[in-house]
Amino acid sequence: MFNANTITRFQQLETPFYYYHLDVLRRTLEACKAASSKYGFHVHYAMKANFNPKVLEMIKDYGFGADCVSGNEVKAAIDCGFGRENVVFAGVGKSDKEINLALDADIFCFNVESVQELLVIDELARAKNKIAKIAIRINPNVDANTHHFITTGLDENKFGVNIWQLQDVADTLRRCPNLEFLGIHFHIGSQITDLEVYRTLCTRINEMQDWFEGQGFPVKVLNTGGGLGINYYNPDNDISDFEGYFNVFKQFLNVKPGQEVHFELGRALVGHCASLISRVLYVKNGQKKNFLVLDAGMTELIRPMLYQAYHRIENISRKSELGVSGSKIDEQPTQDLLKYDVVGPICESTDCFQKDVELPESFRGDLIAIRTAGAYGEVMASSYNLRDRVGSVYSED
Ligand code: LLP
Repeated sequence: MFNANTITRFQQLETPFYYYHLDVLRRTLEACKAASSKYGFHVHYAMKANFNPKVLEMIKDYGFGADCVSGNEVKAAIDCGFGRENVVFAGVGKSDKEINLALDADIFCFNVESVQELLVIDELARAKNKIAKIAIRINPNVDANTHHFITTGLDENKFGVNIWQLQDVADTLRRCPNLEFLGIHFHIGSQITDLEVYRTLCTRINEMQDWFEGQGFPVKVLNTGGGLGINYYNPDNDISDFEGYFNVFKQFLNVKPGQEVHFELGRALVGHCASLISRVLYVKNGQKKNFLVLDAGMTELIRPMLYQAYHRIENISRKSELGVSGSKIDEQPTQDLLKYDVVGPICESTDCFQKDVELPESFRGDLIAIRTAGAYGEVMASSYNLRDRVGSVYSED
């Protein structure tokens, strides 16, 4: 992914920064669009994964909708040019201010997560003399087989309405004249790599839509959420299996005439398009351990520290010096490789990207790429330790 010209360009720039490979993003969006439109499926981009303005702009230009989880995201989506009829608003704790903002914006749908929230939206809509369109987020108790911090569809999670609460939901809907029931919403977790999980989800969605119809509520929208995982181990193989993913829903979801099927993908659309580029500040050789101390840390990319997430780490300066630019580090002779704990500069022991990373012998000033960092990377950056906000650089500047 990094040719000699790119590396020369990086050498002149202040690090750390996120490097966005816009062509990778374009190819990913095209693949998703082709695979989803084949079945008439609607994809809303989960903008929490990355709201970098250039990324958002490109996703909007491809005609995706926006899945938002805060009032500010709703506003950013509309300001960016996503049509309001393509904006959905989810979240377990929407404030009155955020609900009012979304009501004023006339968004497509609120994904509602509790009976109490239904009553609040109904009341706020009534005060504005509006009808709020809503979908009920149901917690289907399906195990996503992913990291427990990013599982959301189990009974013990805070998200959505549990199945035993549905009667209360239906009874409440009948008492809320300012709500229009559109359909049902699910999101069972993130970084899901086992497509079988989605097959189980389809079965639950089929049961749930029958239940609502039995209660006299026609279901117009089936929103299956997001969660499609990506391969962090092979950063250059950059397109997710969109065909396989949508095909599961085509095969197993019971879609009735006139119904719309909606998806909320985040990671699978943007994960591959960025790397975090950093420099080695210091090399510390201990008795048992060698450390590479980078100028990026958990303030720039927190996923390894928060979820024990793997991101491939490459010394892109040494790759080019060895004349193997563009080839995989794994292909280099093993005698060239040393083991390093790759750590950041933050005053926390947990500020370690990965232990025992095999890299060519590395030196102060070398450029390090932490790959597949386009999703939940830049957006989760912080200024802890009063650090500068991480910058962004684009392949097409
Ligand atoms: N829809 C809802 C309601 C969500 O909560 C999420 C993600 C998505 C869609 C998009 O999921 P995706 O397709 O990106 O998996 N920070 C964590 C991931 C948190 C996901 C939160 N919800 C990470 O870095 O792995």
